[in-house]
Amino acid sequence: MACLRDGFNRPIKYLRISVTDRCNFRCFYCMPQEGAINRCQTDLLTYEEIALIVRAAADLGLNKVRLTGGEPLVRAGMVDLVRMLADIPGIDDIAMTTNGMLLATHAEALRAAGLRRVNVSLDTLRPDRFARITSVPGFHKVMAGIQAAYEVGLRPIKINVVVVRGVNDDELVDLAAMTQENDWNIRFIELMPIGQSTDLSENGYMSIREIKERIAVLGPLLPDIRGEFLDGDGCPIKANSLADSMADSLPNGPARYFRLPDARGTIGFISPVSDHFCFDCNRLRLTSDGRLRPCLLWDDELDLRTPLRQGATIDDIRRLFVEAAAIKPEGHRLSERKVPTGRIMSEIGG
Ligand code: 5AD
Ligand code: SF4
Repeated sequence: MACLRDGFNRPIKYLRISVTDRCNFRCFYCMPQEGAINRCQTDLLTYEEIALIVRAAADLGLNKVRLTGGEPLVRAGMVDLVRMLADIPGIDDIAMTTNGMLLATHAEALRAAGLRRVNVSLDTLRPDRFARITSVPGFHKVMAGIQAAYEVGLRPIKINVVVVRGVNDDELVDLAAMTQENDWNIRFIELMPIGQSTDLSENGYMSIREIKERIAVLGPLLPDIRGEFLDGDGCPIKANSLADSMADSLPNGPARYFRLPDARGTIGFISPVSDHFCFDCNRLRLTSDGRLRPCLLWDDELDLRTPLRQGATIDDIRRLFVEAAAIKPEGHRLSERKVPTGRIMSEIGG
């Protein structure tokens, strides 16, 4: 199988697809209260266009896609899109990042269509605070969504917690403790200075180091390598036995997943700001209006929609993927205060 590589020899295996920039929430760090610029339907890639792009990507060895938004489940027919992508040879992992609000309704059909797993954004366990963060009183619906996803067998269940000082940092221990009883992977994410958060991050940012210190009261965090690891080709390794056999030889360094003693679930730490992991980045992004974006934190993009609508073939799209990989930057420059300005988070899909 061909393997697309970027200019720094990183294998490109993973495409994140934003299917809409609309969202039924207004998380203050992500979206302006008035919502995203409302794109008209014709700006969005159609499902047929997305499927063709994914076929081109699969030809180049990409094997994993994630559907994001905005909120992917507010776009009608998402189950059909999952089914179309699951039918593409070479695509063996389809995941979704969702705010969970509509998940209870769709979990079963999504699973049947070929979705493997979900990441659900959940920044608080307090219903009133939830409503303040998202502008929607939907806490119980989201919890029901997570439950439904688990029951239909979407695994692993990952919960994304964006930590904002002064907003939810007093709940880090409660959130981490959820893994004691639940087979969830709770992932604490550093607030990135992007879109709505560009100024907010000044005071709201909290480093993973500090987050770890706060949750240390729950007991030692034991490195857990049964989580997702990437092999040299950027493919996820999920073999427990392999991981177990490596457990003794691995230093603590590479583990981004941890387990509290006797906990059912795991805790992950995502440090895009303090300790970026650009060196093994294996992804490209597709925006809802059809731009291929080599890096979340750079504004550069290649337009796929215009050529597609002018009759581009799958070969042409493959060439654009090769071009996008070639201009993928080595890493972001947040430490030099270089932030992307072109789009808000919900247009890119995190
Ligand atoms: N910093 C970090 N994470 C963010 N997300 C949205 N905006 C930011 C930000 N500024 C997260 C959402 C979601 C994922 C797609 O991105 O909470 O979990
Ligand atoms: Fe919607 Fe997710 Fe942005 Fe919140 S973080 S507004 S749920 S896209």
